[in-house]
Amino acid sequence: MYTSKISGLGYYVPENIVTNDDLSKLMDTNDEWIQERTGIKERRHIKKGDGNSTSTMGVKAAKIALERSKLTKDDIELIIFATLSPDMYFPGGGVRVQEMMDMKTVPALDVRNQCSGFVYAISVADQFIKTGMYKNVLVIGSENHSGGLDMTTRGRGVSVIFGDGAGAAILTRSEEKGRGVLSTHLHSEGAHAKELSLEGPSTEHWVPEIISENPQENIPYYPYMNGQFVFKNAVVRFSEVINEGLQANNLSAADIDMLIPHQANLRISQFVQRQFKLSDDQVYNNIQKYGNTTAASIPIALTEAWEQGKIKEGDLVVLAAFGSGFTWGSAIIKW
Ligand code: UT7
Repeated sequence: MYTSKISGLGYYVPENIVTNDDLSKLMDTNDEWIQERTGIKERRHIKKGDGNSTSTMGVKAAKIALERSKLTKDDIELIIFATLSPDMYFPGGGVRVQEMMDMKTVPALDVRNQCSGFVYAISVADQFIKTGMYKNVLVIGSENHSGGLDMTTRGRGVSVIFGDGAGAAILTRSEEKGRGVLSTHLHSEGAHAKELSLEGPSTEHWVPEIISENPQENIPYYPYMNGQFVFKNAVVRFSEVINEGLQANNLSAADIDMLIPHQANLRISQFVQRQFKLSDDQVYNNIQKYGNTTAASIPIALTEAWEQGKIKEGDLVVLAAFGSGFTWGSAIIKW
């Protein structure tokens, strides 16, 4: 029986820092409100002309992960690309990575599970490795939110939260029992699809319809979020799915060395931390610097935590995510 271990990690964020004060020049918001409700101090936004896109940022993160794994691009047998903000409506970002990294004609799979995208992608990669089909899989989470946010007061409930960036991991076959990805657990609840969504342009909302039928105040091509409803569901689902993962491996919260929660809101992470009685050293947060980068948030945080020496050989690392769909999931990893 094979397992998959993470053999390389990397991340990339655009250089352009956007502070809360910068946003208050564009919309009716302020640093105090944003920090108090979310913990966010600043985020990164792609600047027009800086050469960044969802796929190019993904490639930059992937190249770092690949170098650290000591593999080459020709060792990669599958690309999995998670994003809610692809460069194009179709095709997805995976094929662009294949081209930009000059890889062989390996399969490129796009995952569309928003904030849970990276955990879903890890789960898919892990299954392909466990069955023996592939040895090395490149997993990317990347987002260009700034290109699609309503940067006026009308959109302030959403726009202050999200940031741009990318993270990547290489999953590699291992035969070491009890190490690597021990389990993944995934869920969805489509009844709440509209509570955090971007409805158009889509087959339900074609551009001509949007323009003719929607007055300025009701534009479905900006993201919508029922913040309090999402918050309440998030805290419950995070806890449930972490517990599910721990129980499946006969582990308890006391066994966790590092929890990397999807960076949705610092208050959500702190709530989960209290639930599992974890110390500040056992939970890694960087939403203060980057905002919520959706599918990229876990790989960016995981890479930073690893770079800072906060994840060591033998540690029990828990990844957990919740977001639009609703979708949620966890991964339990023995490093
Ligand atoms: O990653 C995917 C998962 N996402 C999440 O988990 C996000 C979950 N939700 C949240 O994090 C929080 O609900 C938010 C941070 C989005 C919002 O915080 P809240 O405490 O739920 O605020 P609210 O939406 O209830 O808004 C409170 C007030 C409203 O004004 P009134 O109606 O009380 O006068 C809003 O209009 O704050 C106002 N408001 C703002 N004020 C200043 C909303 N956005 C802003 C803003 N600046 N950016």
